[in-house]
Amino acid sequence: MRVAVFISGRGSNLAALIGALRERPDATVALVVSNRPDAGGVEVARREGIPTAVLQSSAEPAEWLALLDQWRVDFVVLAGFLKQVPSRVVQRFAGRIINIHPALLPKYGGPGMYGLHVHRAVLAGGDAESGATVHLVTERYDEGPVLGQARVPVLPGDTPESLAQRVLAAEHRLLPAAVLAAAPSGTAVPFVLTDAKPAPFAQRPTPNATHP
Ligand code: GRF
Repeated sequence: MRVAVFISGRGSNLAALIGALRERPDATVALVVSNRPDAGGVEVARREGIPTAVLQSSAEPAEWLALLDQWRVDFVVLAGFLKQVPSRVVQRFAGRIINIHPALLPKYGGPGMYGLHVHRAVLAGGDAESGATVHLVTERYDEGPVLGQARVPVLPGDTPESLAQRVLAAEHRLLPAAVLAAAPSGTAVPFVLTDAKPAPFAQRPTPNATHP
């Protein structure tokens, strides 16, 4: 499964995904797209030798579709991408676009809920836990069906920054799990995050292998 990752910022989720997919024949990051040429994630991709592209106009579906066709992309991951996906792209890639959000949706989602705004709202709400959510992207911002979540505690004395750090570590486990769960069918599926390492890609037994 050829994955395109869309980013607007530093790209730590991108880096975690690249690391998790290294050596995996079932899914690969084939393209990284940003709406900003100076996004840290663009540099992450370049260092890894992954093709990058910068959207000239993120609202223009033809630009998205040309890139996705050119790089034979099967599956799209939004990892800190702050622009809306054009409807035509959502329709063409129905069931094949996921987003990661730094809270337990449906709480703390929607317009304006990004970055530290989310963690400030969680602390102001007095919640005992927060976490990360991977959801399907539909035409309604942050409202597509939830596919998987990772929970973390909110600790006494937490600041938005300390909570963000704990949630980010959970995101780095959750996003690769979502992509690996989608790989066999090429479509996003509900999944459960476990502590176990992802199952190795099923390979045909090597001829002449001896089995004890
Ligand atoms: C993450 O918190 C993600 O959940 C949100 O944007 C942030 C991106 O961080 N959508 P990074 O660029 O992956 O480091």
